[in-house]
Amino acid sequence: MQLFTNPNSPFARKVSVSALELGLAGRIESLEVSLTPVSPHAGVRERNPLGKIPALITDDGETLYDSPVICEYLDALAGGGRLFPASGPARWKALRRQALADGIADAAVLVRYETAARPVPLQWREWLDGQWLKIRTALDALERDTLDGAFDIGSISIACAIGYLDLRFAQEPWRQSRPRLSSWLGALAERESLAATRPG
Ligand code: BEZ
Repeated sequence: MQLFTNPNSPFARKVSVSALELGLAGRIESLEVSLTPVSPHAGVRERNPLGKIPALITDDGETLYDSPVICEYLDALAGGGRLFPASGPARWKALRRQALADGIADAAVLVRYETAARPVPLQWREWLDGQWLKIRTALDALERDTLDGAFDIGSISIACAIGYLDLRFAQEPWRQSRPRLSSWLGALAERESLAATRPG
């Protein structure tokens, strides 16, 4: 398999962590690319009409995207039910956490593009504030979450989304008012798959 990836992408990191956890990393060749919406990558666009990473080329020559689909595919390849609980409340909890974390990462990447790639006079303050409101409200929801001991696609997604915040917005004091989330994440970050893929 081949994976279009970038070490700083929180979505690509989800795939790398999942592959390590499932013992599949050795079967995936990384194709590292740099892209933004204003500097797309032709090879990625050929495989994913949305032009986004991660995109996985399977051994059958199919291309899979985006990160939830790729991670669930890898989980199925490894037998299923390891990172994606097969059914019941545990499944919906893991998928909801994944959706919430991916939403944080989406908003954070948009803020990054707006502030790092867009000329300052063209930046839209209210739009940026709207993205930060999403991020902070979602972090508050995670602080209230039970954050039980389950290690699954939900916890992987949360770790990767917040890892991206720490990479690109280290000045954002999100830990101050969210001690439970902070200590939960601190313990999780020691895990080999997360330590090995830490960006920056
Ligand atoms: C970044 O460098 O911030 C980045 C790289 C790839 C995807 C998203 C963000």
